[in-house]
Amino acid sequence: MKKHIQLLVNGALWEGEVKAGQTLLDLLREEIGLTGAKKGCDSGECGACVVLLNGQPVNACLVLAVDADGEAVTTIEGLRNDERARAIQEAFVQAGAVQCGFCAPGLIMATWALLAQCPHPTEQEIKEALIGHLCRCTGYVRIPEAVRQAAARLSGRKEVTGVGERIDRPESSAD
Ligand code: FES
Ligand code: FES
Repeated sequence: MKKHIQLLVNGALWEGEVKAGQTLLDLLREEIGLTGAKKGCDSGECGACVVLLNGQPVNACLVLAVDADGEAVTTIEGLRNDERARAIQEAFVQAGAVQCGFCAPGLIMATWALLAQCPHPTEQEIKEALIGHLCRCTGYVRIPEAVRQAAARLSGRKEVTGVGERIDRPESSAD
């Protein structure tokens, strides 16, 4: 069974038919052509597939595409020109927290969401934000260091972002 849905993907409207059991991750990667979110475990355990749903980080492999109907999805591609994402990316490189890079998109999305809510995170807040992200290459010292460095780079900067704004639908089409 298929259902017609609408999504705001990186600020652009996407609409089409999705299968009942299709995940948001598969929709993004296989049909919309956004492969920045990676498919690692496909079961919510590695964090490689993290995207923002209405500005909040989610494992896209655990979200059904039908359940994302009407919502705003942001992938790493959508943060290409985002100042916060750029600072995070630079901090990850500088801290040596990127090797093969497979985990990086998910970690950058999670860090982006953390610093959006909490520009000066404590060690505990950093730890909590990174729970659920696996990295086979760098160990788990450089990644929190990268998050600290990103927070320091962004400290005091004013940012404007439209990430997480949802589809503005007329009342009549809401159901
Ligand atoms: Fe989604 Fe691993 S692919 S958590
Ligand atoms: Fe390779 Fe993290 S850099 S999995």
